[in-house]
Amino acid sequence: MYAIGNDHTGVELKKIIKKFLEEKGEVVKDFGTESTEASNYPEIAEAVANAVAGGECERGVLICGTGVGISIAANKVNGIRAVCCSEPFSAKLSKQHNDSNIICFGARVVGSELAKMIVGEWYDAEFQGGRHQTRIDMIADIEKKQK
Ligand code: RB5
Repeated sequence: MYAIGNDHTGVELKKIIKKFLEEKGEVVKDFGTESTEASNYPEIAEAVANAVAGGECERGVLICGTGVGISIAANKVNGIRAVCCSEPFSAKLSKQHNDSNIICFGARVVGSELAKMIVGEWYDAEFQGGRHQTRIDMIADIEKKQK
């Protein structure tokens, strides 16, 4: 199951990406918002990040105006490797090398076709492990030192 969430800027793009993932056969749990009234992206980020870090959802998608704030907030949850991507190359490599478990982008930055390309490349990519796992373990060690 995939998690998806957005602030008020990403309501329409969220619907498009949710459908895109559903058409790939994924079940998508939608954490909202459905409202274009101003909302606070950290709340959505925390809900989606907890669902992914806790194992309820395999991976997640987060959308705000730029993708920046919502990725910063998601990365505060231990175990989350959220990336903010505006193009598909980084999205693909973020899965292959960094095992990104949440992808973020900006509804004010990317159009719907580019957003689908970003999510599509990320979805299809596989984590390559090996030396990349060593570095991810090092990231986890940073988290442990913060406690
Ligand atoms: C909301 O205006 C905007 O700040 C938010 O969507 C996001 O871009 C923050 O990083």
